[in-house]
Amino acid sequence: MKEIVVAKVGGSVARRNVERIKGVMDELSLASRVVVIPGGWVFADFSRLIDLRLKLGNKTAHRLGIMSMEMYAEVLLGTSQEFERAKTNELRFESGGKYVLMPYSSKLYELLPESWEVTSDSVTVWIANELRSRYRVRVIKITDVDGIYVNGKLVEKIRAEKVKGCLDSYSLKLIRKYGISVFVCNGVVEGRVKSYIVEGQTLGTLVY
Ligand SMILES: Nc1ncnc2c1ncn2[C@@H]1O[C@H](COP(=O)(O)OP(=O)(O)OP(=O)(O)O)[C@@H](O)[C@H]1O
Ligand SMILES: [Mg+2]
Repeated sequence: MKEIVVAKVGGSVARRNVERIKGVMDELSLASRVVVIPGGWVFADFSRLIDLRLKLGNKTAHRLGIMSMEMYAEVLLGTSQEFERAKTNELRFESGGKYVLMPYSSKLYELLPESWEVTSDSVTVWIANELRSRYRVRVIKITDVDGIYVNGKLVEKIRAEKVKGCLDSYSLKLIRKYGISVFVCNGVVEGRVKSYIVEGQTLGTLVY
């Protein structure tokens, strides 16, 4: 079975240091098979605000949330020539493949529960589960902290039900339900993603 990397690139990376987005995408492109799941970044925060003000209802809010991810997808794509846009049914890895998933064009809002609990972290675990009948998947969440902290201490690995914060709550449920582990690592620090891709390890936390 071929190995693919399912990599969620959080808006948190851009929030901390916009220049690093390109760096993270360059580091990810060292993998021959990779699909990037975009976070929602400020686009999602803004949609949440609009939802609070206008009380749009779950259906509209959920669509805006998924659309937010697609906006961040365009930001990511704008930094790198290495990746192609892909809908879920266009992901092909037989002879390599580097994609950024387009969640709105893929109509993911029809497939996932309509709730703000469901964010890009959940989409990431959900996609990994869809792909794993055909590929061996390694799932990574790239964010702006070194991993998961418990009582102020960075932990090497942790069961999903013990995690508080960093990953959205529904994604933690999906990690248990599907038995998929997610490695949380810091994209703000240059080289972390690269060592994960090239050497298979780096500083971070495995959530299982
Ligand atoms: N126990 C914890 N361990 C580590 N980080 C935590 C913890 N609890 C909360 N966090 C926070 O989670 C943040 C990362 O999640 P956040 O949702 O902000 O970003 P993201 O998921 O990378 O991006 P996006 O907003 O696009 O989803 C970190 O900046 C950190 O402050
Ligand atoms: Mg998040």
